[in-house]
Amino acid sequence: MEDIVTLNKSGELDEKDVAAHPIRQFQLWFDEVLARGTPMAEAMTLCTASEDGKPSARMVLLKGVDESGFVFYTNYRSRKARELDANPFAALVFYWEPLERQVRVEGSVSRISAAESDKYFQSRPRESQLGAIASPQSEVIESRSVLEDRYRQLEGQFSSEAEKIKRPDHWGGYRVAPTRIEFWKGRPGRLHDRLLYELQPDGNWTISRLAP
Ligand SMILES: Cc1cc2nc3c(=O)[nH]c(=O)nc-3n(C[C@H](O)[C@H](O)[C@H](O)COP(=O)(O)O)c2cc1C
Repeated sequence: MEDIVTLNKSGELDEKDVAAHPIRQFQLWFDEVLARGTPMAEAMTLCTASEDGKPSARMVLLKGVDESGFVFYTNYRSRKARELDANPFAALVFYWEPLERQVRVEGSVSRISAAESDKYFQSRPRESQLGAIASPQSEVIESRSVLEDRYRQLEGQFSSEAEKIKRPDHWGGYRVAPTRIEFWKGRPGRLHDRLLYELQPDGNWTISRLAP
């Protein structure tokens, strides 16, 4: 399929060129940053908020994207997970400096299926699997050695490489189902391009231009 964005040689973001569906547009940009070998292209800021609206943000890695949304994995007892339990909405931000591109995503969040999380967990290196089990993410721990002891204990427990490590129930994926996605392209003179896609009640996406 033709890459409509690369066809636009000046790198500007034009309503006439972009894909009608924002996920398609995201994939075009993402494929391009991956093809250029942009470091940590899949790193994104995840912003959640507590029940009383106090925001918190941190980086996570994008592990899948399709029309149903953006998937990341984490500990279901972490601070972000507690916030998502109480307030299942989030914002994501990607910034790809070499291409002067930013993408902002907002939407509702839900846990992915256990089967999907199992599949991803099994694809991970053994050390990452043990690390996910060992770390009570976001909890206060007495010292680093507490964590290392726990890890070593698990290494002993799962010393046989043949033994499959089961995904712990407290670890898995979330999907951010977008309702707004904004594409930002840096342009000279601070006259940057911003195109906002908004999901309408009929399931269609509208595109508006925002002032930079
Ligand atoms: C580049 C980068 C990628 C990260 N990816 C993840 C991730 O995919 N999942 C995750 O749980 N934490 C990831 N982390 C760690 C988080 O930023 C954060 O420290 C952790 O999830 C705990 O956040 P919380 O206490 O707000 O829940 C990443 C950190 C960095 C710097």
